[in-house]
Formats: sequence, C-alpha cells, structure tokens
Amino acid sequence: MLFCVYVSKMSEKIKILKGFSKKSPEEKLLLAAGLCADPDAAAVELRSFHHQNKDIQKILSGISENTISNYPLPYNIAPNFLINGQVYIVPMVIEESSVVAAASAAARFWAGRGGFRAKTGKLIKKGQLHFLYAGDRNKLKGAMPSIVSHLKQSTRTLTQNMERRGGGVASVELNDRQNLLDNYFQLDVRFDTRDAMGANFINSVLEEYAVALETFFNQKEGFDERDFEPLMAILTNYNDECLVEVSVSCDVDALGDAAGTVSADDFLRRFVMAVNIAESDVYRAATHNKGIMNGVDAVILATGNDFRAIEAGAHAWAARSGQYRSLSKVNLTGKQFTFSLEMPMALGTTGGLTHLHPLAARSLEILGNPDARTLMMIAGAAGLANNFAALRSLVTTGIQTGHMRMHLSNILLQLKASPGETAHVESHFANKKVSYQAVARYLEKLRKHAT
Ligand code: MEV
Repeated sequence: MLFCVYVSKMSEKIKILKGFSKKSPEEKLLLAAGLCADPDAAAVELRSFHHQNKDIQKILSGISENTISNYPLPYNIAPNFLINGQVYIVPMVIEESSVVAAASAAARFWAGRGGFRAKTGKLIKKGQLHFLYAGDRNKLKGAMPSIVSHLKQSTRTLTQNMERRGGGVASVELNDRQNLLDNYFQLDVRFDTRDAMGANFINSVLEEYAVALETFFNQKEGFDERDFEPLMAILTNYNDECLVEVSVSCDVDALGDAAGTVSADDFLRRFVMAVNIAESDVYRAATHNKGIMNGVDAVILATGNDFRAIEAGAHAWAARSGQYRSLSKVNLTGKQFTFSLEMPMALGTTGGLTHLHPLAARSLEILGNPDARTLMMIAGAAGLANNFAALRSLVTTGIQTGHMRMHLSNILLQLKASPGETAHVESHFANKKVSYQAVARYLEKLRKHAT
C-alpha cells in the first residue's frame, strides 16, 4: 500500500523527458533536486559537492554523462605492505568500515614474517569477434593465414602505436562454435597492451576486424560476403592469461600472535578448515571471495581502474573448474604455513582514468608510479591481506567486534557527538550491542544530563 502511494506520487512528478541530454548541468541538477522533499536544500547540497577548482570539476564532469554532483568516498591509506622486499603505502578507496584497518593489520603482521611474495606471468588480454558464417567452414579454416595477414594489414594505423611500445596483437585464432549455435564462429584475439588496461584499444581493433573480414570475403575468390554476419566485437573480462599470484608464508610457530585468544594450533586448524570450506561450498566461497575483493577493489578504485571488470574476471576464474570456489588456498607442509591467492588482474597504469582523475594519478604516485605488473601485485596483496584478516577474525573473535567499533564511530559521526560524548559512549558500549537507536537514546540521555 505504502509502495503504491509512493509510486503514484513519484509518477506525478517524473515525466519521460525529451532532449534531456541537451539540458545544462544546472537544469539537470534542479530536476533531480525537485524530486526531493526540500528541493532548495537538495540543490544547495548537490552543488556543495562540486569541486571548488573549476578545471577539476570539468574533468570529473567529463568522465561520465549527466553529472550533477560528485559522490565522495573515503580515500584511505594502508601502510606497511611489504611486497617482494619493497614497502608500499597503499591507497584504498572504499566505503566499508574496517576494510582498511583489516588490510593494515594484516600487512603489518606479514611484514614481520617476510611480507608478500608476488609474481605475474604473461600480460595477455583477450577479445572476441563473434560472427556467423554460412559458407564452407573448411575453406574458412584454410584461409585463416591470409585472413590474419589481411586483418593485421587493415588495422595497422590502429595498432602501430602499441607495436612501437612493444605490444599489439599477439595472436588471432578461429574458433568453431557451431556446437553452440548454427554457423557460429569466433575470432579469438590475444593482445599485449603493455601497461595499459587497453579496453578501448582492444574494442577498436576488434570492431575494425569485423569490417576488414567483410572486405576479405568480398574481395577473395571463392568467398561471398553474404555468407558473413558479424554479431559483436568485444573484449573479454575473463583474462586467464593475465594472472597475479600472491602468497604469504611462515613457520607455524611464527603464527602465534595471529591467534588472539585462541591457541596457535587451534587457530591454524580452524583457519585451514575455513579456507577448505570455501574451496567446496559455494555459499561460503562467494563471501570468502567478497572479502578478497574488498581489498582488491579498493586499490583498483583508488588507481582509476575498472573494478567491475576485475570482479567479473575474478568470479569467472573462481568458477573455472565448473564449480565456484575460493580464490585463495592454504597449504601446510610440515611446519610451513602458506596462504596464497591467484586471480586474473588486467590492470593499467597508463591510459583510461589512471592519469585523468587527479586522485588516481596521485595514488599511482604514492605507489611510486608502478608499472602494470607491480600494480597487479599490490592489488593482489591487498586482496590476500583482507582475506587473511577476515578469516583470522572469523575463526577467532568473530568479525562483529571490529565491525561494531567502526559502526559505532560512524553512528557517533552521524549524531555529531563531541569528543567528550564519544569517549562516554564508547566506554558505555564497550561490551554492549551497538545499534543506531541504542546509541541515539544513550546520547540523548547524556545530553539531557549535561543541560
Ligand atoms: C565483509 O565485507 C567480508 C567478510 O564477510 C569476508 C569473509 O566472510 O571472509 C568478512
């Protein structure tokens, strides 16, 4: 009932808009503000988040469309990430309280035990031209060498810059997928995009391949372009040849102070069980991997990379065996404990937003302007750190103790508690269940007593 009232009130106000994109940013802002209970206050608030530097606002507004304001998220740093012998302070953009504290605590813990060891292999990104071909498939397969040379020739202007940087198209293969769909083929194209994520480059080359393939069928004796129907040309986010591996390792006796109140042996036993459960149980695996992505995504956002792309690839990788599994693994050989993570991580440190967004550029500078490989290792280390921290809490104290501390400080911020009030409330709730209502009630009482 309530919902119906809301919908009908909204539909009185919202109309299908023609020419919306041509409206000025201020007109768009007023339109959205007009939907709020107090349109003037809403407009003032939305404007208040505009960047004071007009040039920066221009950049931010240019990144997307119909921008009416900015949406700030906390920009945080996690210190003490020792990765392959080098210490990093890692910028993390994230809204979830306790992720940065957890990453920092795990980084500090492992810094005292040799730190993170990380490596990358090939940096191959992939894309596909999906098409239908109704002609003779054997002839098509036989013509592949001349097709590939025609495609490469036709896209030289697009690829020459990348080739000068040592990258370009690494291979083009025909994939017969008629088992899925009548006449369905793919050109599977592997790219080396060096330190760029390369999405625009890959998609442009693939779209050009569709045009060039049509020309080939049109011009080549024995082929007919009417047999060819290009369907779509797009990169894949399943970058199974652009992997990062990160691990931490130590003697089990050195794990002692990871255990908190639990004995070291129990901690280890419970930790190993927790990871193994995530290996086999999809419900647990999804949450386990979410904990990894807490760290990974925060670094990716801070450095102007595409976290949805990495998420999609990570989950596809987690399901590569046919069952969705944990991205991290644990190994106990003799007295050696090793905790590791392997996942696709197609990141860039040039192009895209990485230098357009001022804070993305600043993050890269804080990280010492890493190349793509190094950034992959840093993001992977953040993922493993958060995974370790989450599991450590889960199998010892539970995560709510830490979460509730952060939750309480968020509530106190919302309720505009003074430093004195904050100290009172924190000590009162040290061993009590935190909820917004309970804190608000307690603070109200405190304030009444104070007057
Ligand atoms: C919360 O953001 C992440 C965790 O749920 C991860 C996990 O359960 O492993 C704590």
